[in-house]
Amino acid sequence: MLLCANVRHFPPPLSAMAARDHHYIHAKKIPLFPLLSLLCFASIFLVLSFSRKTSSNPSHSQQTFRFRHTRNPDPNAAPDWSCDYSDGAWIRDPDRTGPRYDGTCKEIFKGWNCISNNKSNGRELTSWRWKPRRCDLPPFDPVSFLEKYRDTSIGFVGDSLNRNMFVSLFCTLKSVSSEVKKWRPAGADRGFTFLRYNLTIAYHRTNLLARYGRWSANANGGVLESLGYKEGFRVDVDVPEGTWAETPAFHDILIFNTGHWWWVPSKFDPVKSPMLFFENGQPVIPPVPPDVGLDMVLKHMVPFVEKQMRPDAIKFFRTQSPRHFEGGDWNQGGSCQRLQPLLPEQVEELFSLNNNGTNVEARLVNQHLYKALKGSAFHILDITQMSEYRADAHPSTSGGKKHDDCMHWCLPGITDTWNDLFIEHLNNIKFRD
Ligand SMILES: *[C@@H]1O[C@H](CO)[C@@H](O)[C@H](O)[C@H]1NC(C)=O
Ligand SMILES: *[C@@H]1O[C@H](CO)[C@@H](O)[C@H](O)[C@H]1NC(C)=O
Ligand SMILES: *[C@@H]1O[C@H](CO)[C@@H](O)[C@H](O)[C@H]1NC(C)=O
Repeated sequence: MLLCANVRHFPPPLSAMAARDHHYIHAKKIPLFPLLSLLCFASIFLVLSFSRKTSSNPSHSQQTFRFRHTRNPDPNAAPDWSCDYSDGAWIRDPDRTGPRYDGTCKEIFKGWNCISNNKSNGRELTSWRWKPRRCDLPPFDPVSFLEKYRDTSIGFVGDSLNRNMFVSLFCTLKSVSSEVKKWRPAGADRGFTFLRYNLTIAYHRTNLLARYGRWSANANGGVLESLGYKEGFRVDVDVPEGTWAETPAFHDILIFNTGHWWWVPSKFDPVKSPMLFFENGQPVIPPVPPDVGLDMVLKHMVPFVEKQMRPDAIKFFRTQSPRHFEGGDWNQGGSCQRLQPLLPEQVEELFSLNNNGTNVEARLVNQHLYKALKGSAFHILDITQMSEYRADAHPSTSGGKKHDDCMHWCLPGITDTWNDLFIEHLNNIKFRD
């Protein structure tokens, strides 16, 4: 136990790593192997020491590791049989049959193809299995999915992280049913119909859900001009972007997301090109920050979708996908070089709102989503917690960009598990009773 206790303090806290930015960058040149093998030993040690303690109850020995988000801390309380799929652990499952598709699936965006790009752990990513505490989440069976959802149309609406999930579903289905028609239903960026089943899946690109475009000061003046604004982006909080406005009338099932573009100040620089919100065609005065703008957009878009969709249509909102930049943000040399999932305490260090770290937006965005979706007909697809562990599953340096990609996910990879969760929920909704 003494060794275990020591091991638990390794590696150094992330905040310390960030504070020692310089050292961290130099450290990149040092081979990671000794560090990783130590980490690996630490995990094995933890598992062993926990499972020994629980060996009187062997069926739980595997699961004891990493559960700390216990909702019901009283072990004597009546069991709650409903499963919280977000409460679980990643378990190494070497016997698992290989990935459900491989790097040859053409729809995989080049930068996300970690196998073809030779990311060192590209093939190992799918040897980890998400094990919810109270139930199982098996990989969905693509053939039975295609059969069950004949004559159905499914739309993914959102940013590139929803495209990442869409590609995972496409590649999985394509591996068992190769006759597809490629087309762009209802304004989609890309879409496919699996011809033998007449099942359509499509991706509709939208960063903010609301329509937006460049704005610059008018020579004749105006209220924003009088406040000193010269340039920015006009965001119409009550107007859905054209890329998806038709989707509620078209698809039978929709999966929405938004989040990254509200927090990461790349395009919407708060000084040089701020978001300027408009409602009813008029600027919102006084101007509000992006997080308030997000609330306004959700307040309009949630009822818009509910009104436009048929009552038997099914709508999901996916929670925020976490990023894993360490040692700086994406444009400050931040990287994600881990080759193993994080431990629970590392997850808290990286994502806790109290620490206000680089990737804090993951949980912040969710607070806005949960508030806006409360009482709505949307089902929430909660992938945040399971994904927070997977610092190892981003393209990282193999993404082929100037900076490391610690935001998107390798394919095959964890968005495969998001789809397992999506389909599990979908089946529960459609086929319960
Ligand atoms: C990956 O490795 C293979 C075999 O060593 C090589 O042919 C290929 O060019 C590499 N790909 C990239 C993107 O580095
Ligand atoms: C194919 O599926 C769509 C729904 O996605 C449906 O409207 C259409 O009627 C179906 N076509 C046939 C030939 O059944
Ligand atoms: C969190 O950190 C950012 C800069 O990294 C800072 O601008 C912001 O005010 C901090 N927020 C809180 C609540 O401390």
